[in-house]
Amino acid sequence: MTRRLTTLDWDGIEASLDAQGFARIPSILSAEECGSVAGLYNDDSRFRSRIDMERFRFGVGEYKYFAAPVPAIVQMLREELYARLAPTANRWLGRLKPGARKDGSAQAHGFPDTLEKYLHRCHAAGQQRPTPLLLSYSAGGYNCLHQDIYGDLAFPLQVVLMLSRRGEDYTGGEFLLVEQRPRAQSRGHALSIDQGAGVIFATRERPQEGTRGSYRVAMRHGVSTVTSGARMTLGIIFHDAR
Ligand SMILES: [Fe+2]
Repeated sequence: MTRRLTTLDWDGIEASLDAQGFARIPSILSAEECGSVAGLYNDDSRFRSRIDMERFRFGVGEYKYFAAPVPAIVQMLREELYARLAPTANRWLGRLKPGARKDGSAQAHGFPDTLEKYLHRCHAAGQQRPTPLLLSYSAGGYNCLHQDIYGDLAFPLQVVLMLSRRGEDYTGGEFLLVEQRPRAQSRGHALSIDQGAGVIFATRERPQEGTRGSYRVAMRHGVSTVTSGARMTLGIIFHDAR
């Protein structure tokens, strides 16, 4: 796992994150690994809660948050990806100053280099429940545009990995990102993701270079309607939840 993440083009990923607030990652999970992670979905002992999206008008589908301790492969991905993304998170923090929004004062000092240290900070702030999750949609399912914020502390990037086979297990169900530019109309991106591959994207906002310095572009994400079959993804959010 570590080796697979090491071989990714991290310079290219950072450049893409800086330029557009998201970056694709090629397949880092084998079909077998995708199948085994997806297979956990029906084992309720692995999860701390299940959300029926329709009940909250979040969309149509459901998702489950892993209970602690999260599965080893999820923990490994969360730790490795965090360590790779912390430099971008800190670069963005610098570019989004001054006038930092209400992110919690600890965050103003920058993000630590390991997930362990960051989670220690989350836990001290009362955010103690794990946030990695599996999301499951079937035909007719979708996820409304949203942001995943669970308290004052929020890591500025998160990751989604596709566990199903596009065009075989499901059709439709593109990953959606919409950037809300100040005093301008919103721009959308629709991304098809291959099995085992994923997208790194801004949790809440990204810095955009302007003629008078950086400004904030708010980003929201969702999923377009699944037109057939069943689609499952693994969501890796780095901040824990209240
Ligand atoms: Fe989300």
